[in-house]
Amino acid sequence: MKCYLVQGVGIENLVQGERPALALKEGEVLVDVKACSLNFRDLLVIRGQYGSGPFDPFIPLSDMAGVVKAVGSEVKEWKGGDRVINSFFRTWPGGRLRSSWARTAVGAAGVDGVLSEQIVYPAESLVKVPDHMTWEEAAALPVAGLTAWSALIVHGKLRPGQWVLLHGTGGVSIFAAQVAHAIGAKTILTTSSPEKAKLVKEKFGVAETVNYRDVEWPNRVKEITQGSGVDVVVDVAGGETLAKSLHICNYGARVAVIGVLDNPKAAISVVDMLQHQIAVKGIYVGSCEDLRAFSKAAEAIHLKPAIDKIFSFSQVPEAYRYLESQKHIGKVVIKVRP
Ligand SMILES: NC(=O)c1ccc[n+]([C@@H]2O[C@H](COP(=O)([O-])OP(=O)(O)OC[C@H]3O[C@@H](n4cnc5c(N)ncnc54)[C@H](OP(=O)(O)O)[C@@H]3O)[C@@H](O)[C@H]2O)c1
Repeated sequence: MKCYLVQGVGIENLVQGERPALALKEGEVLVDVKACSLNFRDLLVIRGQYGSGPFDPFIPLSDMAGVVKAVGSEVKEWKGGDRVINSFFRTWPGGRLRSSWARTAVGAAGVDGVLSEQIVYPAESLVKVPDHMTWEEAAALPVAGLTAWSALIVHGKLRPGQWVLLHGTGGVSIFAAQVAHAIGAKTILTTSSPEKAKLVKEKFGVAETVNYRDVEWPNRVKEITQGSGVDVVVDVAGGETLAKSLHICNYGARVAVIGVLDNPKAAISVVDMLQHQIAVKGIYVGSCEDLRAFSKAAEAIHLKPAIDKIFSFSQVPEAYRYLESQKHIGKVVIKVRP
């Protein structure tokens, strides 16, 4: 079975390799992987900034879409030919995350990921692909899509007419723009690129854009919302961006703390939070139950994930470098088999 292996720190240590055919246990499913998608986390992993210490070679990436090849003796819910995506955690069925489940996040040292011709996965941690989606689109759902859903819907309780603040044009933020638009909310998106600003308005229903490199951007957001501030923040940046986002929240706003594109440390104002009664929650992708709900909703609203570029299985290092260049809008995907 062909796969990629991370043998050390740096994209030059991402190499094609072989692993023995996988054995199937009673509650597991063997999946022929069709497509995988990349996330910012995969750059942190390959740079050695995710976890610490020496590690054995492991298979990277956490998101795939594929077709069921065989099922274990106890598996009733899947059969050969079913189209599935995987949950980011091999085990997080639903409810509150537990520490033993948190350690089952795939695609980092110690837990093999999905950039392989085949994977074996627990049956209860797979979800049906929305009927209208291609393999490449479906492979974008497990992390970026579900994180946006967890932020806007599960925590954010977003309603039509409310204002949402999004940062950047990466995988999570573009999914959030699409979901928010579909339910009739209004989005303000920050981007460093005037070209991307134009495109997200045309293609993803973003109402307004501001440049996060302009120090005046929070004032612009206040103006756009006619002084009231935003109702939901999907914060993939941390640092000063998070602090400024908290300062321009409406009363009763919900803030989803997701990422560290700006800085993992932030000096935030307690007064901003208490005076405006802001609910701040850290998001860690989501459970399989939430992925199932998101996948059903994606089918109902006919969501078309924004795929920026598709690379072949032999071009995986190029795909990593492309993601690193931040030229993309939405998702970067690898076609594993035709
Ligand atoms: N907690 C979780 O469960 C979870 C899940 C998924 C992702 N994340 C985190 O969320 C973040 C985004 O992930 P992703 O996969 O969507 O990333 P991505 O696709 O790599 O997004 C990159 C884009 O982010 C924008 N950006 C870069 N620096 C920025 C800054 N200082 N402020 C605002 N935007 C900035 C840029 O947009 P422009 O080119 O438009 O400027 C860039 O193109 C990462 O930190 C990731 O680790 C966390």
